[in-house]
Amino acid sequence: MSTETVTARRFAKMRPVPLTDAPPVDRAELPPGPRMHSLLQSIGLLRFRHQFVPYLHRRYGEVFSIKILPEGRHLVVFNRPEHVKEIFSGDPEVFHAGKGNAILGPVMGEHSLLLVDSAQHKRARRLLMPAFNGHALRGYQDLVTGLAKTEVERWTPGQAFRSLDRMNALTLEVILQVVFGVTDEVRLAQLRPLVNRTVNIPPLVFLGWGFPRLQKFGPWRATVENQIALDEVVFGVIAERRTAADLEHRSDVLSKLLQVHDEDGQGLSDEELRDQLVTLLLAGHETTATALAWTLHELARDPAQAARAREAATSGDDDYVEAVLKESMRLHPVIPMVVRHLMEPATIGGIDLPRGANVAASILLAHASETSHRDAGRFRPQRFLDGEVTINTWIPFGGGVRRCIGAGFSLMEGVAVLREVLTTYDLSLPAGETETPQVRNITSVPRRGARVVVRPH
Ligand code: HEM
Repeated sequence: MSTETVTARRFAKMRPVPLTDAPPVDRAELPPGPRMHSLLQSIGLLRFRHQFVPYLHRRYGEVFSIKILPEGRHLVVFNRPEHVKEIFSGDPEVFHAGKGNAILGPVMGEHSLLLVDSAQHKRARRLLMPAFNGHALRGYQDLVTGLAKTEVERWTPGQAFRSLDRMNALTLEVILQVVFGVTDEVRLAQLRPLVNRTVNIPPLVFLGWGFPRLQKFGPWRATVENQIALDEVVFGVIAERRTAADLEHRSDVLSKLLQVHDEDGQGLSDEELRDQLVTLLLAGHETTATALAWTLHELARDPAQAARAREAATSGDDDYVEAVLKESMRLHPVIPMVVRHLMEPATIGGIDLPRGANVAASILLAHASETSHRDAGRFRPQRFLDGEVTINTWIPFGGGVRRCIGAGFSLMEGVAVLREVLTTYDLSLPAGETETPQVRNITSVPRRGARVVVRPH
């Protein structure tokens, strides 16, 4: 079957689907929340989350409900560590995560780890896990450090630049070379623009996938064409790698995935591999770049913290450098919440919830809680080394069986990048620069791109 047919079939098959056939949830069964129209609440949640969610928390208390689109859908928002624990440890057959991501289906594909639930999720997770364990991560480290060095050496001292853009370019390179294992410059040049266009699909195009006839027109047609072109290259890379003589000795994620088997001796098919690679790309590229950009912003605005971080980077104290990254992710959560869809009635925090309700663990609220984090508004990495940060109060990667599979990867990558930046340059902010979060796709990025000025150290 041609790549074009495979891609077209995926677009025809994968559409934003209803979460379940559960009957609409009765508002009276849920904790309190605003009465305004669900369109306004959805906009509040998607576009103005940094104001709307804390406002609802102040107004309605620890647990509240939001009515979201499509009409009749409800989200019950929790943030206390004991509630978060109940959500993360909930029975995966009851607490589904994949269904809410259906909108990503045409790009990620039906096998994507982010989209599947139950037995399918368990199998995919078991097959992908070995490529992300501690041993594997150590194998990726040198290549990541090399890429970070090349990027950092290109920066022009004395001129303000958007660190978010540079971090995006770097994390893309990491995905292509360390995850896909592509180092040939011709292939890289082919992949970069295709991948960039995949990552930057505008929200309107995503929403339009609910209407297949749109695929013949303008931006919808362009995304399908881009996907066909990307799939062609990705299937080409997979085919080449399958027959690579040095497969066993290669240290990229794809090569590892080509060697795994389930209990029936079955490996991952080409389509499964494509779906997982594109998922890793979309889930791992901008998220890590955003976390790094916020970290550079925090260090640039606080010379004392930057000096302490540099000392750690120079002396090889990776634990402290990691604490810097973690504290920045606490203060500026990249993803605002994780959501589970209830396939059966469930009780959380003593509240009985009906089948069909959606429950969220709010990362934004959990990280800003004064009860969990003393001086929550202050950037203080040391809190991670003093054992102050207790379980289920720092949850940037979600939790339970759905916890981000790339958490260790992104921390390893982040530490390697910070080490290079800190040992090469002094950081400062352009005069008068401040930052506020802005929603981009689902991530919260620094509005002005976390502009910094570097000077050789
Ligand atoms: C700072 C960087 C990152 C952040 C903040 C982040 C955050 C998250 C969050 C919140 C989830 C949902 C967890 C849940 O539902 O409980 C998730 C899932 C996931 N992430 Fe990440 N992520 C990051 C980096 C990465 C990287 C580098 C990769 C891969 C290379 C990756 C791959 C994935 C995948 C495949 C899932 C789905 C896991 C599953 O459903 O089993 N992420 N991530």
